[in-house]
Amino acid sequence: MKLENSTALVTGSNRGIGREIVADLLGRGVRRIYAGARRVKDLEAIVAAAPDRIVPLQIDITDRPQIKAAAEKARDVTLLINNAGVADFGAILECPLELTVRDMDTNFFGTLNMARAFAPIIEQNSGGAVVNFLTVVALASMPGLGAYNASKAAAWSMTQSIRAGLAPKGIDVHGVFPGPVDTDMIRAVEIDKTDPRDVAKAVLDGIESGTEDIFPDPMSRAVYDSWRQDHKAVERQFASM
Ligand SMILES: NC(=O)c1ccc[n+]([C@@H]2O[C@H](COP(=O)([O-])OP(=O)(O)OC[C@H]3O[C@@H](n4cnc5c(N)ncnc54)[C@H](OP(=O)(O)O)[C@@H]3O)[C@@H](O)[C@H]2O)c1
Repeated sequence: MKLENSTALVTGSNRGIGREIVADLLGRGVRRIYAGARRVKDLEAIVAAAPDRIVPLQIDITDRPQIKAAAEKARDVTLLINNAGVADFGAILECPLELTVRDMDTNFFGTLNMARAFAPIIEQNSGGAVVNFLTVVALASMPGLGAYNASKAAAWSMTQSIRAGLAPKGIDVHGVFPGPVDTDMIRAVEIDKTDPRDVAKAVLDGIESGTEDIFPDPMSRAVYDSWRQDHKAVERQFASM
């Protein structure tokens, strides 16, 4: 899809990768950006960068009335970027079940409910794209991120289903599979991380080039290559981490 003159909505845009996506979209001639966040107050600095083009929008993606209200306001959206997500650490058999429920509510049901609310709007606006943030650990599980892996793997399956359903309506559906990115989400983890600005750029380049599955950093591309050759080897490698 061509980004110039499109209207984008980015969830979780107050920090991390979402904030960098908003900044990059501005430079690509997007007409309007709805910057979604749980607390509109967290968006003040972001909106100040271009108050004529960035519209703050309160959206907690686990809150269906808030999604409905956002969809009533943002009727001109042609690009939905489902970036908001949470990651809880712990083994899935041992961590509090509430953490698994939280990850599923946000990463799976929240993402799905956003797509359900905005796909009809994008269709009415003559097509566009839906982008779902997944992760490289959706390909193979890292046991220390049990709930997160499962929620994102479910979201990957959902992404494929909605791709098939939305293709005849002129809506591209992209999955994004980052490796470690330097944001609050994995602040405490000591590992090589990609700059979120590079991830934002790779994602937007991928949307413009029509790449369905976007691997936006060197680590995710290396994992994807290994996974295509021998997915069981990647499963064993991740299991030992
Ligand atoms: N960082 C990584 O290494 C990495 C790797 C692979 C994939 N990803 C994925 O990339 C996406 C962005 O992650 P990030 O690294 O930028 O994480 P982050 O810095 O922790 O930011 C997460 C964002 O999601 C928002 N959010 C969380 N729950 C929400 C909800 N219920 N409703 C609306 N917004 C909500 C947060 O808002 P608040 O400020 O209100 O909490 C925040 O804006 C996520 O989907 C994540 O799973 C990240």
